[in-house]
Amino acid sequence: AATEPLKVMISGAPASGKGTQCQMLVEKYGLVHISTGDLLRAEVSSGTEIGKKAKEYMDTGMLVPDEIVTDMVVSRLSQKDVREKGWLLDGYPRSSSQAGSLERMKIRPDIFIVLEVPDEILIDRCVGRRMDPVSGKIYHLKNFPPETEEISARLITRTDDTQEKVRSRLETYKRNSDAILPTYFDLLQKVDGNRPREIVFQEIDALLQKIRTDAVKFKTLE
Ligand code: AP5
Repeated sequence: AATEPLKVMISGAPASGKGTQCQMLVEKYGLVHISTGDLLRAEVSSGTEIGKKAKEYMDTGMLVPDEIVTDMVVSRLSQKDVREKGWLLDGYPRSSSQAGSLERMKIRPDIFIVLEVPDEILIDRCVGRRMDPVSGKIYHLKNFPPETEEISARLITRTDDTQEKVRSRLETYKRNSDAILPTYFDLLQKVDGNRPREIVFQEIDALLQKIRTDAVKFKTLE
């Protein structure tokens, strides 16, 4: 039986592994990955008005104002590919008002995943993170080094990945994250993100498979 495409939210502190898991999920499930951090960084690097405004907040680890971020997400969610393939929302909603905006539009996920990783590990992950500007792939100097010299030579570091800025991003996360949980308490799945990325993926993969199986069973019963 045909089922609705999957709708997934993934949350967690800075460097808890959201982007890494999303890349693996996109590969397996073909969902459309919507990362507010990536969308905002694209605006910053193109030098748009939105990008100029957003940069001030991103550089201090604060949340970019809701009206900027929410408009971006809502317009992306309304596009045809998202409706057909399903979505994977990474880093949004990040506050109760953002969650409220989606609720008012009746946009709800099938599952709300929270990746849990201890603070001291998060700092090391951020400081060691490198991005490949060509493929968009996320690496870590120790945990997940690039495959070739050529990739290694072109890697870039995010400007907000300094120790000081990571601490401030972590504070922002802690101030806002709990307030979202009541909205999604019935869909909440906490996943231990402090394990090798393939193991974390196996657990998330199993959770998504279960949603699909349950949906098929439910349809058959109808
Ligand atoms: P955003 O880009 O979303 O940053 P973040 O939440 O701080 O998350 P990160 O991208 O840093 O980490 P991640 O969890 O994706 O980890 P990754 O997989 O890369 O947001 C940036 C800024 O934009 C915010 O500060 C804010 O200003 C603004 N913003 C964004 N959304 C907003 C919103 N909704 N409202 C308002 N403002 C918003 O992994 C990290 C590193 O760890 C990598 O090096 C990776 O290789 C390594 N790693 C990953 N998994 C593992 C593992 N299992 N074991 C070992 N190493 C691992």
